[in-house]
Amino acid sequence: MKIIGIVGCYKRDGITGKMLNEVLKGTQQETETIFLLDYDLAPNSKDQQKLLEKLKAADVWILAAPTYFGGLSGIMKSFLDALRAQILRFDKKGDPHPLPTFKDKHYLLLTNCYSKTFENLVTGVTDSALRTMDKVLTTAGLLKLGEAVQTNTYFITELSPKKKAELLKLGQKARNAEKRDDQRMKRYVELFFIVTVMAFITMLIQAGLLHLLGQTLGFWNNFISFVVIFYTLLAVTLHFFTVVKHKRK
Ligand SMILES: Cc1cc2nc3c(=O)[nH]c(=O)nc-3n(C[C@H](O)[C@H](O)[C@H](O)COP(=O)(O)O)c2cc1C
Repeated sequence: MKIIGIVGCYKRDGITGKMLNEVLKGTQQETETIFLLDYDLAPNSKDQQKLLEKLKAADVWILAAPTYFGGLSGIMKSFLDALRAQILRFDKKGDPHPLPTFKDKHYLLLTNCYSKTFENLVTGVTDSALRTMDKVLTTAGLLKLGEAVQTNTYFITELSPKKKAELLKLGQKARNAEKRDDQRMKRYVELFFIVTVMAFITMLIQAGLLHLLGQTLGFWNNFISFVVIFYTLLAVTLHFFTVVKHKRK
């Protein structure tokens, strides 16, 4: 298992570098850190070829870049922009597709900002930086293992023990990166489980309500009330998993 960390900012020992170091510690593997600052990122330059070889050799890429002006730092953006032609293939219509070389590798994202945790939660200061990196890497067929955000960086020079623990855990995830098939199977089982539990709870609610009201319903009323309760529960559950669980702190 080869893991590389890629730092896209001007400081080597800033919060971005410190976040990456903690994740790399958690991997308990031999890792390599690349400071994009040291490379000529122009397409087809010698340096870019060197970087490309490192990316090909690594199983997990950890991209660490601060949020600048509400988006991804320029260095990381330039790196990804220049990589476009190397990590994607385009069909006749100009639509991008993954290349087998990079497909099914894994990635982790790290970013940070001066803004406070609450402001980031409400206005999503760091969302754009994460979205940009996600877009490039998922289009290239890589699989996401997770992400971490450090807010409030104007006031800190060191990471808190809590943040370090979160980052170490991410590193462990990188070490245990699963193959796509394993993940897919896991997701199918999770989905099957969620739908089964939803259906069971819906029937319980329906039966409870009818019992309370002392009513019985015909086929269509039964069906419509089932659908309404089922979809309400499903919407709340999906909202929980996709929004609440991914709140960016
Ligand atoms: C050019 C520039 C633009 C920035 N823009 C933002 C911003 O829009 N929002 C914010 O919260 N912080 C902003 N920051 C603060 C950075 O996110 C902060 O410097 C970073 O968290 C520190 O990471 P480092 O210690 O690794 O350099 C900006 C910093 C720089 C240098």
